Amino acid sequence: MSRLLVTGREKLDGEVYVQGAKNSALPLLAATILTKGENIIFNCPELSDVEASLLILRYLGCGVKRSGKTIIVKSDNVSRFDIPDDLMRKTRSSIVFLGAIIARTGKAKLSFPGGCEIGPRPIDLHLKALREMGAIIEEKHGYLECFAPKGLNGAKIVLSFPSVGATEDIIIAACLANGTTTITNAAREPEICDLAEYLNKCGAKIYGAGEGVVVIDGVTALEGTQHTIIPDRIAAATFMACAAVTGSHVTLDGIVSSHLASIIPIFEESGCKIKSGGGRLDIFAPKRLKSMRIVRTMPYPGFPTDAQAPLLAAACTAQGTSIFVENIFENRYRHIGELVRMGANIKTEGKVAVVEGADALYGAAVEATDLRGAAALAVAGLCAEGTTSIGGVQFLERGYEDFEVVLSSLGADIKKI
Ligand code: UD1
Repeated sequence: MSRLLVTGREKLDGEVYVQGAKNSALPLLAATILTKGENIIFNCPELSDVEASLLILRYLGCGVKRSGKTIIVKSDNVSRFDIPDDLMRKTRSSIVFLGAIIARTGKAKLSFPGGCEIGPRPIDLHLKALREMGAIIEEKHGYLECFAPKGLNGAKIVLSFPSVGATEDIIIAACLANGTTTITNAAREPEICDLAEYLNKCGAKIYGAGEGVVVIDGVTALEGTQHTIIPDRIAAATFMACAAVTGSHVTLDGIVSSHLASIIPIFEESGCKIKSGGGRLDIFAPKRLKSMRIVRTMPYPGFPTDAQAPLLAAACTAQGTSIFVENIFENRYRHIGELVRMGANIKTEGKVAVVEGADALYGAAVEATDLRGAAALAVAGLCAEGTTSIGGVQFLERGYEDFEVVLSSLGADIKKI
């Protein structure tokens, strides 16, 4: 198993081209199942989660070619409607294939992501919506068996929470449904807009993506197209945290600064100067950060839960007390115990974490248990005295392309062993 070794206190300097968005690539690849003809997807990040989606597409019978960041998918010969358990478990977001497979084949058989029974696993919003669209869904032996032999029907769907995955699943399913689907309280993330833009280029009729109400008029067929994935705003936020915690000036290239609208003010509050324009962003960090006061994670356009962990790590050596309130996922503080091993002073109570800035962190052997937690440990390692050895690198590789290579190019002392 690989580990990352980070020896802290090196100043960073230079430019990063921000990778394509993982959370856009995954649903978009699933949506290619709806199309006939060739899809050419550019700026697709080279990540294990993307590889997992390609394995699923190949298993279903799609032709898939990859050349660096360009992926070509031909879905003319989709021959299967099931996804075996081992493929489903490779990535949590495999559930977004559900709506696509039903829409394309009229049936689907998928195991639950993570193999749990339906109760504790929150895919209830996906299933409720698909049932409202006429799918018959049964839970048998850890599998979901779904039927819609006459196709799905448009429906008026009201989400009790603006779930990103459920919104994507419904949009995909609705494109080939009979009639019109309306999603009220839809998620508004930029990745939803990217998916809708891709599908509309294929011939879909999706209106209002990025707003709270999305309307989809079903069409009879979709044609493959060419599409460039948007930049990854969470990777951008992570590199900003790396610059912030080391008192550095770093330039990000290839970003959309409006996607970072809730993130930039938090860095500014902590004393960083930010200049952005023309797809670029410069962050100039002070010698020592000030506290971030209160960071509350919220659905977009609020502060993203995925950026919470790297920012919390940056707050560990800030001057003063920062408070984080995690409103989206309950289990997003699992890396905190590891930060405490490095000398961080953090107390959690339910969804609240209180971070009292320490004068210094110290390198230690730590273990990551999830993607953004792994990024947080790397951020902490960059400012810690001595060497931090981070286990669980495979989590990091689910979401960041060549993480240690990019940071080394900026001057960090980081290597994978
Ligand atoms: C997506 C992102 C993930 C991000 C999250 C929130 C991808 C591949 N992943 O995950 O990185 O952290 O959005 O921005 O795009 N929920 C239910 N029932 C459901 C679905 C969700 O209760 O059927 C709950 C979840 O438990 C969670 C909240 O809704 O508390 C948000 O989840 P959701 O927006 O669906 O996140 P994902 O799409 O899984």
